[in-house]
Amino acid sequence: MKKILMIGAGDYQTPAIKRIHQLGYDVYSVDYKEGQPGFEFSKGYKIIDVKDKDACLKYAKALEIDGVLTWGSTLTLPTISYIGESLNIPCISKTAAEISISKYAIRKCLDEYGLNSKGETFRIESIDDIQKRDFPLPLVIKPSDGSGSKGVIIVTKKNELFDAINYAFEGARNKEIYAEPYISGKEFTVEAYVYNDICYIYSIIKTEFFWNDQYPIYKQTTYLGINDDIECQIEAEVTKAIKALNLNWGPINFDIIISDDDNKPYIIDVGIRNGQNLIASHIVPYSRGINELDNNISICLRNEIDIKPKFKKYISSRLLIYPPGTIKKIKEVSELIGSNHIVDIIMRKKEGDVLPAYKTKSDICGWVLTDGKTPEEASKYADFAWNILKNYIIIE
Ligand SMILES: Nc1ncnc2c1ncn2[C@@H]1O[C@H](COP(=O)(O)OP(=O)(O)OP(=O)(O)O)[C@@H](O)[C@H]1O
Ligand SMILES: [Mg+2]
Repeated sequence: MKKILMIGAGDYQTPAIKRIHQLGYDVYSVDYKEGQPGFEFSKGYKIIDVKDKDACLKYAKALEIDGVLTWGSTLTLPTISYIGESLNIPCISKTAAEISISKYAIRKCLDEYGLNSKGETFRIESIDDIQKRDFPLPLVIKPSDGSGSKGVIIVTKKNELFDAINYAFEGARNKEIYAEPYISGKEFTVEAYVYNDICYIYSIIKTEFFWNDQYPIYKQTTYLGINDDIECQIEAEVTKAIKALNLNWGPINFDIIISDDDNKPYIIDVGIRNGQNLIASHIVPYSRGINELDNNISICLRNEIDIKPKFKKYISSRLLIYPPGTIKKIKEVSELIGSNHIVDIIMRKKEGDVLPAYKTKSDICGWVLTDGKTPEEASKYADFAWNILKNYIIIE
C-alpha cells in the first residue's frame, strides 16, 4: 500500500489525513506536540517540529514514503520541498516554498514583476522608523507571517502609527512587519490551482463582512458583483502573479480588492495554500465539481488529476454567527438540506458550548451553504437560511 507522510496534524491537516486514509493509502504524520487531532487518524506519527526539515526527512526515509503532503498551511512548505527534492518525489519547488512563508517577500516580488500597485510596500524595522522615514497615509501595517488578520491594522492618521506598529509587531511571530498602501474598494478572494503550467481560476468570491449590533454578518458568494471585464482583469492579474512567484503546483488563494478609484484589481495577500472558510472543502466542489484535496493527494503520488472545472454554479455561504451566549439546544438540521436552496450545513459547535462575542472564525456555530441561478439569488437564499437556522440553534 502506498504511504504518504503528512507534515502537520492540526485542525487544517486533519481532513486531509482522514481523506488519505479513506482513499486507501497509509498515512503517517508529524507535528510538534502530542494530542494533535490528526494523529488519531494516522497509521503512525512522530513528534517533530514541522519546520525541522532534517528530522522530518529522517522519518520519511525510515517509512520509505511514496508521497509527502501538507494541507492548509504554508509554514510546512519548505519541509515539503526539502523532503520531496531529497527523495525525488513530487513537491512544490524550493523557491516557491521559501517565498510562501513571507508575505512581505511575496509582495515585493509582485511589485517588481509589475503587478497593479498603488505605491511602495516597505519593511518597518522598528518603532524608530516613524522618525526616519515617510509614511504615506492611508496605509496598512501587517505581520509578514500573519494569518486570520492577526496584527493587521489600517492607519489613517500619523498619530496612530506608534500604536499600530506595536500592534503589528505583537502579531508577528518572526518579528517582521511591513506597510503597504491602503486600497478602498470591494474585497474578493480568488481560488486558483496550478499544475504542469496549467492554471485554473476555480472561483472569484465576494466577501461581505460588517457589524450588526452585537455580532457581524459574514457572507461569501461566488462571482457576486463580477462582470466579464473584471473577471478578465482578475484572471490576468492572478496568472501574472503565479508566473512572478514561479508556482508549479497546488492551490493558491488570493485576497484582492477592486479599487473604488479606478475599478482595477489589486492583490493584497497571497496564500500558497488552499482557501479556508469552506472555500476548497465545499465552495469549489459544489460550484465547480472539483476536489482540490483529492487532486493534491493524486499529484503527490504521481497519479493523474482532473484539474478542469465541470460546471459553474453559484454558491453562497453564510457564517452562523449569532449573539453570544450558551448553546442550550441544537435541533436536527440535516432535514433542512435540500429545501429552500440549502446545499449543506456544517456545524462546528455542540449543545453546552459557550459562544463568546465574535472575534475570530473559531467563534462561529458553523456555516450554511445555498445555491441559486444567479449569485444574487444564492446570496438571498443564504440570508434566508441563516434566519431559519436561528430557530434551530437555541442560545441563551
Ligand atoms: N492594502 C489593503 N487595503 C485595504 N484593506 C486591506 C489591505 N490589506 C489588508 N486589508 C484588509 O485586512 C484584511 C486582512 O489582511 P490580509 O489578508 O493581508 O491578512 P491575513 O492575516 O492573511 O488575513 P486573512 O487570513 O483574514 O486573509 C483583508 O482581508 C482586508 O480586509
Ligand atoms: Mg489574507
